[in-house]
Amino acid sequence: MSGVRLVGKVAIVTGAAMGIGQGIAAVFAREGARTVIADVDADAGRATEDALRRRGHEATFVRADVADEAQVRALVAAAERTYGALHVLVNNAGIGVYTSVPDTSREQWERCLAVNLTGVFLCSKYAIPLIKASGGGSIINVASVHAYQNVGATAPYAASKAGVVALTRVMAIDHARDGIRVNAICPGWIDTPLIRSVFAAAPDPEEMRRQVTRRQLLGRLGTPEDIGHAALYLASEEASFVTGTSLFVDAGLTAQLETW
Ligand SMILES: NC(=O)c1ccc[n+]([C@@H]2O[C@H](COP(=O)([O-])OP(=O)(O)OC[C@H]3O[C@@H](n4cnc5c(N)ncnc54)[C@H](O)[C@@H]3O)[C@@H](O)[C@H]2O)c1
Repeated sequence: MSGVRLVGKVAIVTGAAMGIGQGIAAVFAREGARTVIADVDADAGRATEDALRRRGHEATFVRADVADEAQVRALVAAAERTYGALHVLVNNAGIGVYTSVPDTSREQWERCLAVNLTGVFLCSKYAIPLIKASGGGSIINVASVHAYQNVGATAPYAASKAGVVALTRVMAIDHARDGIRVNAICPGWIDTPLIRSVFAAAPDPEEMRRQVTRRQLLGRLGTPEDIGHAALYLASEEASFVTGTSLFVDAGLTAQLETW
């Protein structure tokens, strides 16, 4: 299925070599966006670029660590050089550090905040002037249900994602006048390499996957494309009255109290 909702638009999707970012890039490309795939994993990033080009889409891989200011500046410059404009930035790159405060080393804490929160800051900092100069657009931050509700032993991850949601609101306030809408998506359980590594660390990975799946109101884990469709909505004109909010794409995970 291909559409036209992003024809004429240029998008950067960070962390797009696999998982949710790859799903977002695939949905954007199908809708006509010229898409820059940014990631630290060059092999997987080039494979994603190849796959999209083979389907006839315009896509370019740029190796960039979102926590590195010089690389982020070069990423935004590459988007401008390649496609001449920028309309959509998806801050998706993120890492999971699932530990309690005493069990977290300072290095783990700082790396988690650097990628998940400072990465959003840096990419937005360098993208905003170009989006503004391109006539406005949309920034979409991939936060998490962990920004709002919590489980134990996820301190660095939860803190970083709550920060992303606050940053989303402030950027929405600051840049409405620039024609830039800023929103967050809070995914629930999405079947990606990250989540597969969480299952793999359990004593019985298949049993953990079955238990998690059983708890989902809609009877399945999400797919990267489920988040891609939400990002497409927020990037499109259909969301032209939507800014500063969080969209939960979590199969009702955050709607429920404990089961009776
Ligand atoms: N999978 C889920 O259930 C879930 C739920 C809620 C939120 N999220 C969030 O969604 C985003 C994507 O998660 P995922 O499950 O697809 O993860 P993933 O680990 O499967 O994929 C993440 C991608 O980001 C890239 N990446 C990591 N660090 C980077 C950096 N410093 N700079 C650039 N790229 C980097 C990786 O190479 C990889 O390609 C993350 O922000 C994550 O916190 C995921």
